[in-house]
Amino acid sequence: MSEQFTRREFLQSACITMGALAVSTTGADKAFAATSTSTPNTSGMPSCDVLIIGSGAAGLRAAVAARKKNPNLSVVVVSKVMPTRSATTMAEGGINGVIDFSEGDSFELHAKDTVKGGDFLVDQDTALKFATYAGAAIHELDYLGMPFSRNAKGEVNKRYAGGASKIRCNFASDKTGHILTHTCLDDALKHGVKFLMDHHMLDLSIENGRCEGVVLRNIRTGDIAPVRAKSVVLATGGYTRVFWNRTSTPFIATGDGAAAVLRAGLVFKDPEMLQFHPTGVCHGGTLITEAARGEGGILLNNQGERFMKRYVPNKMELAPRDIVARSIETEIREGRAFGHDMEAYVLLDVTHLGKEKIMRDLPQIRHIGMLFENMDLVEKPIAIRPTAHYSMGGIHVTSIDTMATPAPGLYAAGEAACVSIHGANRLGGNSLCDATVTGKIAGTNAAEYAAKADFGAGKRLNDLTLKWTSHFKEITGSGKGNVNDMYALREELGAANWYNMGIFRTESKLLELADKHAEFQARYNAIRIPNANPVFNTAYTEYVELGNLLLASRAALMGATARKESRGSHYREDYLKRDDANFLDWKDVVVGQFKIEERKY
Ligand code: FUM
Repeated sequence: MSEQFTRREFLQSACITMGALAVSTTGADKAFAATSTSTPNTSGMPSCDVLIIGSGAAGLRAAVAARKKNPNLSVVVVSKVMPTRSATTMAEGGINGVIDFSEGDSFELHAKDTVKGGDFLVDQDTALKFATYAGAAIHELDYLGMPFSRNAKGEVNKRYAGGASKIRCNFASDKTGHILTHTCLDDALKHGVKFLMDHHMLDLSIENGRCEGVVLRNIRTGDIAPVRAKSVVLATGGYTRVFWNRTSTPFIATGDGAAAVLRAGLVFKDPEMLQFHPTGVCHGGTLITEAARGEGGILLNNQGERFMKRYVPNKMELAPRDIVARSIETEIREGRAFGHDMEAYVLLDVTHLGKEKIMRDLPQIRHIGMLFENMDLVEKPIAIRPTAHYSMGGIHVTSIDTMATPAPGLYAAGEAACVSIHGANRLGGNSLCDATVTGKIAGTNAAEYAAKADFGAGKRLNDLTLKWTSHFKEITGSGKGNVNDMYALREELGAANWYNMGIFRTESKLLELADKHAEFQARYNAIRIPNANPVFNTAYTEYVELGNLLLASRAALMGATARKESRGSHYREDYLKRDDANFLDWKDVVVGQFKIEERKY
């Protein structure tokens, strides 16, 4: 292997083109077609058995599970970016899962912490199953060769994560997500998973209630094409880019799956449940892991005071992240922070941990401090402020046993899905195991379904493809317009969402935001992109993504306005108490609401 051999070149061997998916007509990639049991594709429409959208941990685990369930099925992962640039790679602190019972930990305790952390909006049997599968997932990753950090006995090392009653957050330095992604990617390559890289899902086609495929756009060439699939897994991640740069998640986290589901008339559950992580780096919002506090880091205000003693004296910095984030914002509001308004911050101090420990267990955050703040946190405290981190809400799936949506043939997994594991607030360390666990379940069930199913008729899919082809022409090419309007709009959307629907919410701020959203939507509708060249027209990609963010923002706002209580990360200053009588189970409210709103769009 030459020194210049890159990950992209390695992955290239598993990459296919759209032509390879037209299995029974021309241009078929023989090696790929041979693995497919697809019924003859007489329409000539590109097709495969199981199509997975998204290449983070959930997508990769779904793909492997589908191949393992039935190696005769063609399994294709579609991704906007290299898998190594997914949100999974940005997860740092660790992955929860009980594998050591010696100190009294158990699956029940993990489930109980998850339910309590989620402010009881968690389906309790789901949490119990989840905790059990999470333990198995750690063993599975270990056997796959994931290079976890080790303790003196050579066992997988673990650390404390906020809101946990026991130490069960297994880690690989503070690069757990990055290392997990590479492990899962290697496993996918080993199992013959194929990748359609640099493709963006524009829409999802549901015909006669059943999922029949998706419309994709090749980001490089601009080609827009349908792909028929017997089953589809949406592993498209979250929508925290509704806060634009005030987030720890990547630019791709634009809620493409949730928006497609809304447009298709399906359900987007608990959209108002957006998590704010207490410690984002000031410039860029990138995560400074909770593990920094798990390892002993402390938070200080502008008076050098360890202010968490005012809020949760028995847990201090290790309280659940919704509470720590609110505590920091309160310090900011009450003038005990540095800077002002959106630029205000407090300090995270890990200097007392010493260089050796930081270099061993927290090297990535030191690197992030150097890159984004031009400082060395070995030597001095780093400036941090809360940043949007995770979408607890997502595509409604009916059960953790299948990760199936109510539309036959459609599955969702990871952050894109909402199976009510995390309720109103996810615990640190529970996202990597969610992605790993639910990805596997979705992939297994999608394969089982695909093995028995035929392709859908494809009529609606064809219509949608034509619609999007015309849309590209309509939005680009008049020679008029200015893409700067679009870039300004997404900044304004992010700031307005943060200010009005961020950590503290009130009726008046939410109503004000509704007016702003209407204005933003009108401005969005008027945007035109002067460049009509389809090749690498990134402005059009960003335009579509912004449309998805607007839709997700409006859904989140509807949920936030309707939920007149405070629960987990959803904190209403005008309804401070949790209201179980009216809001503990409001699935029907969400379903009814979003169906109506989705049709309006
Ligand atoms: O702080 C963190 O390392 C984040 C972990 C998580 O969101 O699970």
